[in-house]
Parts: sequence; structure tokens; C-alpha cells
Amino acid sequence: MQNLDQIAEEAAAAFAATDDPDALEQIKARYLGKSGRITELLKGMARLSPEERKTAGAAINRVKEAVEASLNARRDAIRRLALETRLAEESLDVTLPGRGESRGGLHPVTRTLERIEALFGSIGFEVADGPEIEADFQNFTALNTPADHPARSMHDTFYLQDEKGQPARDILLRTHTSPVQVRYMQAHVARYADLETMPEIRVIAPGRVYRVDSDATHSPMFHQVEGLWIGENVSFADLKGVVADFLRRFFETDDLQVRFRPSFFPFTEPSAEIDAAYMSGPMKGRWLEVGGCGMVHPNVLRHVGIDPEKYLGFAFGMGPDRLTMLRYGVNDLRLFFDGDLRFLRQFV
Ligand code: FA5
Ligand code: MG
Repeated sequence: MQNLDQIAEEAAAAFAATDDPDALEQIKARYLGKSGRITELLKGMARLSPEERKTAGAAINRVKEAVEASLNARRDAIRRLALETRLAEESLDVTLPGRGESRGGLHPVTRTLERIEALFGSIGFEVADGPEIEADFQNFTALNTPADHPARSMHDTFYLQDEKGQPARDILLRTHTSPVQVRYMQAHVARYADLETMPEIRVIAPGRVYRVDSDATHSPMFHQVEGLWIGENVSFADLKGVVADFLRRFFETDDLQVRFRPSFFPFTEPSAEIDAAYMSGPMKGRWLEVGGCGMVHPNVLRHVGIDPEKYLGFAFGMGPDRLTMLRYGVNDLRLFFDGDLRFLRQFV
């Protein structure tokens, strides 16, 4: 019966060699199927004498049972293996620390803008805004900026493209918040038909602006906050008072020196740059230009239909990013816009 034991061993080895349930069933057929080796042996017993049949039958059945036993054992093992693999793949390590919710914080420039709105709100300034994609008229023409002014050059201004991919000269990313002056005055004039008795305009307009610029104090996208006060009796002294008072309240110190340096803007006359510097501390004596300002040019008022003989006022445009640099002692403005959380977290 050497042959029979070999068959049982071979079958067990073949079962053990696979861990695929379908393959296992195919191997089973080779032994126990319709023309499997054990089935053939059983069929062959018909040719034996009754004596021989007895012993051979018992031996073949033993082998058949052995093969069936190793088949069942392998089936169980394969099922267990599959289950274990699945459990391992789908397992959750409940001992891992949670990811948690990181608390967001306001960007330092956003905090500055909020402070600016609150401080100007406290002296009666409304907040207005305007589009970042602006028309040439509001950004330049209505602001008395001549066609050959250098600010209009492609080196300074991001122009949008037309359908042919050519620069569209009449549509651009606003280079300052001053077009909001124009839009606000146009809307004001439209709202108050009787310009003899229209109420004063007192408004600020914070927002993003764009220029072809990049160094430690210039970013291609930056912020400005426009201010505009138009009435019957608004003077340059009011301008100086409002701006200097704002800066001292903003920096929460009397240690800040503010100076008005004569300058030129097409839309104001006279015009000045506003510089600020600390009088002590690590940034002592380092003047930083924080804005431009002046008395609104009569041509600007005419462009929006306000009589410059009756009304006048001042405007300013400050750089909140520069104010933020000064307030926190940051020496490169581009850090604010790099999106590096290690830097930004310091302000939360
Ligand atoms: C203007 O943009 C004028 N529209 C300001 C103005 C408004 C004058 C109303 C008169 C009346 P200027 O180009 O100087 O001016 O910009 C104003 C301020 O914006 C600067 O003082 C500076 O603080 C800030 N600034 C300008 N360019 C950048 C830049 N690339 N990155 C960061 N801040 C800038
Ligand atoms: Mg300037």
C-alpha cells in the first residue's frame, strides 16, 4: 500500500502549496473529482476478487479520509489567513494620539485692517470697498493721471489680457485703492441729487492692490487703506491731525514720530508722503514711508461731478503691510505673504 500513502502525502503537499481557495478546489478535483486518482482507484476495485476488494477497499477509504481531512484543514487555514489579513489591513490603532483641531488665527495684516477700521470708525468714517479688477478710468483717468504718467507703464501695472492674449489697456489690477474714492464719490453724487446740501463724505477703503514690485518693503500684492474726507471746510491741518492721531493710536505710543514730506500725486494738491519712525527701541530712527496723502485735486472732484468751488477735502492712501511691519518689528514684508505657518503663528 506504499502507493496509497504516497497519494495521501502528495495531496497534502499540493494543498499546502496554495493559499488560493479556487486553486485548492481544483487540486481537490485531481484526487476526489469524477476522474480523480482516488475515485479511479475505487472504480478499479470492480476487477478485484471479493477478498482483495475487502482489504483494498478499507485501505483506499483510509486514504480518501486522510485526503479529505487534509483538504478540510487547508480550507480552514486559508479562511483564517484571509480573515487575519483583512483584520490587519483594517485595524485601527486606538493608542495613536488624535490629530486634533488646530485653532486658526487671524493673519497679522488682517488684524491691522481690523484695527484700522475700528479706529477710523470711532471718528465717524464709514468703510467702503471696490473691485480689484479695475477700469483704467477709475484707476487713472478720473484721478487726473495723464496718459504718459509712468505709473501707467507695463513695468508698474498688471494689465489684463484681451481674447487675443494682448494687454487690454483699459482693464487692469488696481494699483492703489484710490479708485474707490472715485467710485464712492460717483455713488454719493448719484444718491444726493441736491449737491448744494449733500452730506459730507468720510470714508475709508481697505483692500488688496497690485504692482510689478518685489523687495523687502514691496510685494506684488499688497494692501492699502484709502481715506477720504470731503466737506465744505476740510483743511490740510485736519489731514495732519487725523493721520497723526490715527498712527499714535494704532501704535499705542507717543514715542512715534510722524513727518509729512512734500511729494507729488496727480490727484492731490498739495501732496505729501507720510513717514513714521520710533524714537527709541531697536527700530529707533528708521523712517518708513507708510502712505501718501494730500488735498483732493479740483480735477478729481470735477470728474465725479462735485463742485470744487463749494467742496474740498483730503485723501490718503496708507500701506497696512508697512504698518504691520513697524508694529511687530518685521524687516521683510514678503514674509507676510509666503504662507509659512512658523512665521505666522507668532502673531496668534
Ligand atoms: C499711492 O498709491 C497713492 N494712491 C496714495 C494716495 C492716496 C496719495 C490718496 C494721495 C491721496 P504710493 O504709491 O506712495 O501712493 O503708495 C502708498 C503706500 O502704499 C506707500 O507709502 C506704502 O506704504 C505702500 N506701498 C506701495 N507700494 C507697495 C508695495 N509694493 N508693497 C507694500 N506696500 C506698498
Ligand atoms: Mg509713495
